[in-house]
Amino acid sequence: MAAGERSETKPWGGRFAKGSDELLEAFSASIHFDYRLYPYDIAGSKAHARMLGRQGLVPPEEAEAMVEGLEAIRADIEAGRFQWDPKLEDVHMNIERALAERIGPAGEKLHTARSRNDQVVLDTRCFVRDAVNAVSGLVVGLRLALVRRGLEHSDLIMPGYTHLQRAQPVLLAHHLMAYQEMLSRDNERLADLSRRVDVMPLGSAALAGTGLPIDMKFVARELGFSRVSANSMDAVSDRDFIVEFLSVSAMLMMHLSRLSEDLILWATSEFGFVRFPDELATGSSIMPQKKNPDVPELVRGKTGRVYGHLVGLLTIMKGLPLSYNRDLQEDKEPLFDTVDTLAAVLPIMTRLIEGLEFQAEAMRAAADDPFITATDLADHLVRQGVPFRRAHALVGRTVRYCLERGIGLSNLSREELVRLCPEVGENVQRELTIEASVSARTTPGGTAPGQVRAALRKALGRLEKAASGKKGR
Ligand code: ARG
Repeated sequence: MAAGERSETKPWGGRFAKGSDELLEAFSASIHFDYRLYPYDIAGSKAHARMLGRQGLVPPEEAEAMVEGLEAIRADIEAGRFQWDPKLEDVHMNIERALAERIGPAGEKLHTARSRNDQVVLDTRCFVRDAVNAVSGLVVGLRLALVRRGLEHSDLIMPGYTHLQRAQPVLLAHHLMAYQEMLSRDNERLADLSRRVDVMPLGSAALAGTGLPIDMKFVARELGFSRVSANSMDAVSDRDFIVEFLSVSAMLMMHLSRLSEDLILWATSEFGFVRFPDELATGSSIMPQKKNPDVPELVRGKTGRVYGHLVGLLTIMKGLPLSYNRDLQEDKEPLFDTVDTLAAVLPIMTRLIEGLEFQAEAMRAAADDPFITATDLADHLVRQGVPFRRAHALVGRTVRYCLERGIGLSNLSREELVRLCPEVGENVQRELTIEASVSARTTPGGTAPGQVRAALRKALGRLEKAASGKKGR
């Protein structure tokens, strides 16, 4: 329709002498992305229609007709028969209009005692609730893969790093379990935020509530929410549940990005700790020898877009006066893209972890660094009664002595060792192997094999339970 014609398509047409400009229609429409809310919009409208019937706000047979009509619309959408009309702006008005066309005047009663302002928050809360469940399950799957690979290689020693310099030997399983721990906190954060998503806002109407005798608690029960919103203005204005989801997602992506970075590094010829399965690596269009780690690189790269969505939504929210403002329509694309990104990233990371070919010899060889057990020598001197600072200085001097001669700690003769570290005890060399070093670290959360195996088994038990749908995280 050309600008200036009287619009009959708009629900607010009555107030307007002229129809909408085409530019405005294209600019403000959200149907091309918010159509994704249709399952929630229909479920919410069905609950609302039932409530209207129970409360005597519409005759029972009209409520029934609405519910059936909404179901038929869902079937049309799912069969690809539904025509989304951008002139009707968004998913809410498209479905409402289709209902009126399908069932006649009864359909025009659906919007009684509600506004799109509370409707869109309800739909989005339902969407986030499903997204949290789906993402939580995928995170559990990735944690399971990490734990299973750790159990498979529970004795394999590799260098642990600080500043990306070899520091002390650790078990590969300990390194993998570090990520398992991070991801377990992501699962906890998802579970925690889901309590705040679990609020039913429909009935807040435009901003102030409604004077009609509705029953919000009934709608909440119908839709599986445990609470109704406590303040109608907050309910239509607030998007902090989305910000929270994006924030937890950003943190999850941060963890996946660090894991990616480790894998990219480990797959270099310089490290050689891991090979990627062929089916999850890519080649080069010019260099025939190349095998590239595109999967973790893309995961690392996609972390940037999720961070961007979080900062974007925080920025959208920061200057908004109460209550609803159209700016809030901009909440959906960052939310949807974040969910899509996680739904793409988590399964392929899981597959990659499952398919990694760990290179035990390269890891062991790197762990056999000539000085990697220097701390163990210092700890040995401490057990002999030497104050730690002095022990540190003695061992530092010993390392320098070795470096000047091009030898490692294990190549020192007994005489040399006694000369450099006078308090050194008998059999000290036995304590300086990487196995002894790893086994000694029995502090809670340390890398000693017994500890790591216990942690692996405990995690496996919980995760298998969680994956089979029972409680446990
Ligand atoms: N599509 C709108 C959104 O996403 C729905 C709410 C519109 N409300 C309004 N007062 N224009 O926010």
